[in-house]
Amino acid sequence: MQGKIVALANQKGGVGKTTTTVNLAAALARLGKKILVVDSDPQGNASSGLGIDTKDIGKHLYHCYLDKQQAENSIRQVDGYDNLYILPTHIDLIGVEVELMSAKKRERYLGKLLQPFLSAYDYVVVDCPPSLGLLTLNALTAAESVIIPLQCEYFALEGLSQLIRTIRLVKNSYNNNLYIEGLVLTMFDRRNKLTYRVAKEVKEHFKEKVYTTVIPRNVRLSECPSHGKAIVDYDKRSSGSISYMNLGREFIKRQKNKGRI
Ligand SMILES: Nc1ncnc2c1ncn2[C@@H]1O[C@H](COP(=O)(O)OP(=O)(O)OP(=O)(O)O)[C@@H](O)[C@H]1O
Ligand SMILES: [Mg+2]
Repeated sequence: MQGKIVALANQKGGVGKTTTTVNLAAALARLGKKILVVDSDPQGNASSGLGIDTKDIGKHLYHCYLDKQQAENSIRQVDGYDNLYILPTHIDLIGVEVELMSAKKRERYLGKLLQPFLSAYDYVVVDCPPSLGLLTLNALTAAESVIIPLQCEYFALEGLSQLIRTIRLVKNSYNNNLYIEGLVLTMFDRRNKLTYRVAKEVKEHFKEKVYTTVIPRNVRLSECPSHGKAIVDYDKRSSGSISYMNLGREFIKRQKNKGRI
């Protein structure tokens, strides 16, 4: 096994990066894959969403940036799973952006600290913050592929060209193998005509890179983080749970096609 690192990135805030990280990871785990979630956003929403108490978490990603030997002490199993793990984070992680400002190869820290663990997982899923700063740069440099969540709303495409430019830049400068795994449409609202228009536009532009599975707006998805549970465990029958399980299956199926579409 050589775990594939997948970054969930979009510098636009609130588009469903964390919701997709947590729920795709849990879906993949329920489908039998061994998964490590890396919470690379100082907000720590992926950590709390998977039941970690971010005020009392012991070692976390910030410590690993300072000393990569700490990764072993930081990774922990998610409750209720024997194949879902998390490297949690804390607001302190925000310090990395400044502390590493003049460090050599500062874009490679995350990749280096994860390297010893890759053989233990099928997939390592990295939740990025809503910025294109050093934390996202580290995630894109470590990753083999990127999933871009897009909220189905008027400004969905705003900033996307900047993100694509950044991905290309990272590919050309630091990480030759990087590619876009797929775009996921999130918070789809069947009653809103604008949603359909945005989805159509995204599909015209990105074609088969767009996942067929669309994530609907579902209140259960917004409730489950406060219970520290993924949607498959919080409400298995909800439309959100069914959609993320479908996304998990589609993700796995694409791997068989080499993913490089
Ligand atoms: N499909 C959905 N249906 C309903 N609510 C959703 C859905 N997806 C996400 N949300 C809610 O929308 C908000 C933003 O989602 P999320 O935190 O996943 O976005 P994000 O891109 O990670 O945000 P940030 O940029 O701040 O990290 C959250 O409150 C989340 O619970
Ligand atoms: Mg987030």
